[in-house]
Amino acid sequence: PINLRGRSLLTLKDFTPDEIKYLLDLSKDLKAKKRMGLSGELLKGKNIVLIFEKTSTRTRCAFEVAAYDEGAHVTFLTQSQMGKKESIEDTARVLGRFYDGIEFRGFKQETVETLAKYSGVPVWNGLTDEDHPTQVLADFMTVEENFDKPLSKIKFVYVGDGRNNVANALMIGAAKMGMDFVIVSPKELFPSEKLLKEMRDEAQKNNAKISISDDLNAVEGADVIYTDVWISMGEEDKIEERIKLLKPYQVNMDLIKKTNNPDVIFLHCLPSFHDTKTDMGYDVYKKYGLPEMEVTDEVFESKYSKVFDEAENRMHTIKAVMVATLVG
Ligand code: CP
Ligand code: NVA
Repeated sequence: PINLRGRSLLTLKDFTPDEIKYLLDLSKDLKAKKRMGLSGELLKGKNIVLIFEKTSTRTRCAFEVAAYDEGAHVTFLTQSQMGKKESIEDTARVLGRFYDGIEFRGFKQETVETLAKYSGVPVWNGLTDEDHPTQVLADFMTVEENFDKPLSKIKFVYVGDGRNNVANALMIGAAKMGMDFVIVSPKELFPSEKLLKEMRDEAQKNNAKISISDDLNAVEGADVIYTDVWISMGEEDKIEERIKLLKPYQVNMDLIKKTNNPDVIFLHCLPSFHDTKTDMGYDVYKKYGLPEMEVTDEVFESKYSKVFDEAENRMHTIKAVMVATLVG
């Protein structure tokens, strides 16, 4: 039997396929429970702190609502002494005395690792420069909801910046779950050799396949087309270079048609630049003449797009992670 009590979620590398499946199944149970209008007390008496160095809508709100639904209390911490007047190690030891669990979103993967090492309580990675494990749980849950076949029969194609946190996290998850995973990106943005090698070894154990290509024809037969922003948080100065590299890799209807699969779904972790309604979208439009970036509005709003189910599933999967690691 699987018991994740006391575990941290820093990266899915640390989890077995069975443990990931357990979290996905628990997420579905908790979603069904919420749909029936039932709240619970699975996290009653627990205190949780949410540390954010970078901005967030989904991740922060998912943790808060998930906690409240099951009776926990949360502190949202954006300004603290951590890393400035106080070391991560000392902050971790203090927070570990107050809280039952710690969520961290920020720059360095090393920070979540240090928090986990010194706090003595479960730590959850809410996104770093390198990884975004809770996102992948929501993504895979959404895939399972849309197909009658298991993840191991899914061809999952990520198009765009092949070396950002989301691309890395999806590759790790796919290698674990035995998927046919493809990254389509310009050569300059291929995943790091180190991660690729590590995940190809992992893939071999789980009958997964990981391929990398700069050729858009590699989307043929895809069940899922996934993309993410061309510039991640903290990389704003790279915009010109990224537009140049990634313009040909925009997810548009021609690309969807190239999959030759009428049942293909489109996913995106969000937020997304598919129109000029955001400050950044408007600036990009004015400066570079691009009304859309990584995905066209047409695809984003199409019947293929499951992005809001995916966003909702962030909450159910994060709830499952907290319940599994705090209660077991
Ligand atoms: N997908 C995601 O992590 O969204 P936020 O940045 O809004 O948390
Ligand atoms: N790659 C994006 C994901 C946002 C959820 C970023 O890091 O900004």
